[in-house]
Parts: sequence; structure tokens; C-alpha cells
Amino acid sequence: MCGIVGYCGKEPAAPIILEGLKCLEYRGYDSAGIASICDGEMLVKKDAGKIDEVERKQGIGCLPGNIAIGHTRWATHGAVTQANAHPHSDCHGRLAVVHNGIIENYQQLRQELIDRGHHFTSETDSEVIPHLIAEKMEGDSYSLEKAVLAVMPRLEGSYAFVTLAIDDPGKIVGARKNNPLVVGSGSHGNYIGSDALAFARHTRKAISLGDNEVVVMTPDKAEFFDAAGNAFSKQPRELDENWANNCKDGYEHFTLKEIMEQPCAIDRAALQDGKKFNSIALDILRAGQVVFTACGTSRYAALVGRYLFSRVGKKFSEVANASEFGYFVDSIDKNTVVIAVSQSGETADVIEGVWAARDVGAKIVSIINRPNSMLEELSHHTIYLKCGPEVGVAATKTFLSQVAVFYLLSFSLVNAFDEAVEHLGDMSGKVAEAIECNNSNLINLAQKLKDKNDFYYLGRGINFSIATEGALKLKEVAYVHAEGMPAGELKHGTLALIEQGTPVVVVCPDDYTYGETLSNAMEAKSRRAYIIGVSDRESDIFDFWVEVPRVDELLYPMVTIVPLQLLAYHMALARGYNPDKPRNLAKSVTVK
Ligand code: M6R
Repeated sequence: MCGIVGYCGKEPAAPIILEGLKCLEYRGYDSAGIASICDGEMLVKKDAGKIDEVERKQGIGCLPGNIAIGHTRWATHGAVTQANAHPHSDCHGRLAVVHNGIIENYQQLRQELIDRGHHFTSETDSEVIPHLIAEKMEGDSYSLEKAVLAVMPRLEGSYAFVTLAIDDPGKIVGARKNNPLVVGSGSHGNYIGSDALAFARHTRKAISLGDNEVVVMTPDKAEFFDAAGNAFSKQPRELDENWANNCKDGYEHFTLKEIMEQPCAIDRAALQDGKKFNSIALDILRAGQVVFTACGTSRYAALVGRYLFSRVGKKFSEVANASEFGYFVDSIDKNTVVIAVSQSGETADVIEGVWAARDVGAKIVSIINRPNSMLEELSHHTIYLKCGPEVGVAATKTFLSQVAVFYLLSFSLVNAFDEAVEHLGDMSGKVAEAIECNNSNLINLAQKLKDKNDFYYLGRGINFSIATEGALKLKEVAYVHAEGMPAGELKHGTLALIEQGTPVVVVCPDDYTYGETLSNAMEAKSRRAYIIGVSDRESDIFDFWVEVPRVDELLYPMVTIVPLQLLAYHMALARGYNPDKPRNLAKSVTVK
């Protein structure tokens, strides 16, 4: 949550920062701002609103200077106002800071600073940082980096921040604890960002800053220091070419582009190292217990994983909601394999649980999309989804890629990785078919249902996870209340909510759950629900049939989820919302 960008070099900095902020808008889009230094003056422009709006109102991209920092905000402390937007400054406007994270002891620090005569202009936790740094620079004549190092131990909570100061010009200093910060070095200068996506168009050489490390960036070099101020060197990693593509490629929205990319995403997810999968499979088979920890869509993908592990590998596992996982750490030990599933690799709830599990000796396997993440640093094994950046806040192609990875992993449990790769080889065509057959029908369905307030999604077995993920998509992008549940659960309470015309989406491909799921659908139909069947086999019960291609039972999730993503997308448009940037949400949730 919140995106940070910094640049110093030979080029005008603000346009580079603005472009970087747009690439990080997935991290938050409440407000934005840039600070630059030019001719010895600190210039700050910021406002509430999405980046384009702020640019229109304030012209942040026109600030002069070759050194600048910027921020796109997802509000935690303080309303969405111009005053609370970053960058924040000290009392005299001589330094500027952009921050991502939460300073948990900010109230105490703020009071101390007020008692010493500081004036605050925002309600944010972040503003204590520039005041603390300024005190060190003014009172103790510290350099910017020395002041940052002195302030870091005072900050409780999590942070990634970057700062620049007119009293120590020509450099940007960045620091990190439990929030990501990546440094990029290019021929025209140096870059820093919450994600390498912020500068991937300029350089693919990226270095992740570690916890409690500090970077000092000048136009020519980036130097790294540990918490004690000792310099050390770090080697850059080359970013995957795919990671630099951050355009809509002619689609109206990233969400649609990413849905359409799914046939290709399956092929990429299948490009895995069989030996690595076999070694992870051995760890899983030997483990006393296997627990998935994840949030949101990644958790629903983990439900598919749990099913596949049981059905293919005869290995029982459990799926924990990551924000609750920490409360069960008493039963985690060195015989536990924890599978952490996270597109971003930086979800705070996931990271915290993984820390706790590591502390008691559990083996950590992570399944991640974004490179250079904190989760990777904490893991014994990491599997990458390889599907490139997902910019739409609603996860789409990463869900399908996670499912593909679980398919490979479950077959690895029975030493059949190669067979699984072969099966996946046919799936990109099937997914493309699921898109082509349904897209225009779903536009009509969305028009018909756009004023409905409640949807219910049902499925059994492997299809239950698709019901839950389909419902989440609708909530997120179309702002319609939706519940996904095991089809058998409907009669235990929720049936009371079904009335004439209530849309009930029934995920019932022609597998061994078909008959029983239809019986549950019939219970809703008898109460005059409007039944939308997602299946390769038609039924009289359906009021609307979403036809999907016939595939093997274990691969149905890949073809059934796609029309549900499209339905949510078209519902969002029919209701007048931008599916790429749902209200109140951010793609990376780095706070607990
Ligand atoms: O990056 P992660 O996979 O850890 O994110 C987890 C959830 O925040 C995420 O899946 C969220 O639910 C999506 N916006 C769903 O579309």
C-alpha cells in the first residue's frame, strides 16, 4: 500500500517520477505528490485524487530539477486530503519524505516533537519522520544518511521511506523495515521504488534493499549501509523482460487485458523446473502437516491446491486465512510445511504468519508473482508464477497461474510432473475457447442483472473455490454483494435470502459433483432464483447457460473461473465503475 519512487540523475526528474507513480498506482490511488530540489530550493506539489487528477490540478510532473521523490497514497492514518498527501516536510520545508507503512509509535513521537516546538501540518503517522530527521541534521549537523540511521531505531512498526534535503543536496536516502524498496541503476541515473515496475522502462538492473538497510543514491552511484552505518556491496539482479511491460496493449482496462492474457499465462506458469518441484514435493510428503496461508484470491487458489493435494497426492492439508494463521502457531513446528501463496509477496498478513512459522522451524514454500519480494527472502523454496505484472487490483491471471502451479505440484507428489506439464499444454486453447464463447453473452447478462443487489455462487469440491473466487470478483469490481459457498451449505441458512429473481451462479462442470450440485441449485430454483449454470453440460434448471469447454475433472477451475471474471468485469462497466481501481482497495496490502 502506497507507492514510492525516487530518481536522481541527468534527466528532468519529475516526469520520470510521474511515470513511475502511474506504474505503482495499483498500490494506492487516494492522493499523490512529488518533491524536487532545483537551484537550492525544495519544491513540493501534492493533492488528493488519482494521479492523473493530481497532475491536472497541480502539474506535479512539471516540477523542475534532476532529483525528485514521489508518492501515491492509500490512506491509513488521516483522511484523503491535500494536507495528508505525501511528500511531508519538516517545519522549515528543508527536507521531504515519502513513506509506505505504519509508524506505530507516531503519537508518542509526535507529542515529543510538539513539546520541542515542532509544528505538524497533517494527521499522518508519516510526518514524524521528516521532523525527526531535521532535528538530527540541524541540531547535530548530521549528513542526511547519518540522520536517517539515527532516526530508524526510534521508529516502531513498518516502513519504507525515501528522503531528500536541501542541506545535503544531490542525494536521495532510502531506508526499509518490513516494506519493500528496490534500487535500479541505469546509464542516466539511479532510481528507487516500492516495486521495480516503477523504473523497469529505464533499467532492468534491480537491487532489493534489506530490512534495516539504508541506500544513499547520487546520480552516479548507489551505496548501501547496514544499521550500524557500515558500507557493504550488493549485486543487482536482472529483471525478467516480461516484467517491464506495463501497458494496456489497446485494451480499455488492465483487468480485461489480464483476463485475455490467461491462455498465455498458463503456458508461462508451466515453464517450471521439474527437479525443484520434485524436491518440494518430497518435503510436502515427509511433512507431518501442510498448511497453506494466503488472503483473498490467493487463498481461493490455495483451496484448489488443497483439493488437488488430496485427490492426486492423497495428502491432507489445511488452508489458513493468513490474517488468522498467527493465532494457530502453537500447533506449527519443524514438521510443518507452510505454503505461502501471494501474488505480491508482500501482503503483511502473510508475511507475519510466515515469520512466526519460521521461528518455530517450519519449512516455507512460497508461490509468488512479483520478483524481489520480502516473502521470497523468508522462504526456503520459491516458485514464481511468471505471468508478468498484474496491474488491475482484481487478481485474474495470477489466480489461473496459481492454480496451474498447484496442478504441477500435486502431480509432483506422485512423481508425475512431466505428465502434468503435458496436460497443461492443452489448456491455453481451452481457456481461450472459454473466453471466446462467452464474452459477448456475458455483456448481455451483465446488462440484464446490473441492478441486482445480491448474488450467490455455489459449487462442490474443487468447484467450491471457484464459487468463492467468482463472488469475490463481483464484490470487488462491481460493488455487488456476493457470497460464494459450498453448494451443500445453502440449505443451512443462506436459502432464507433467496427470493424471486435472485441470481444464483452454479459452478457445476460435468464431474462427479454435477448431480448433487444441481439438486442444491434446484432448492434455490424452487424459491424462484435465477439460475446461471457454468458447465459443459446443459440442464433444464439453468435460466442462463455459461458453456465452458469439456476438460479433465481436475482442470475445470481453469475454464470455469474465466467467464466469472468476465461477468464481474462487464457488471462493473454496466454499473459505471472502473474495474481497474475499485474504491477503498489497493493491490498490495502491506498493513495488518
Ligand atoms: O498479493 P496477494 O496475493 O497476497 O494479495 C492477497 C489479496 O489481497 C488479493 O488476492 C485480493 O483479494 C485481490 N484484490 C483479489 O482480487
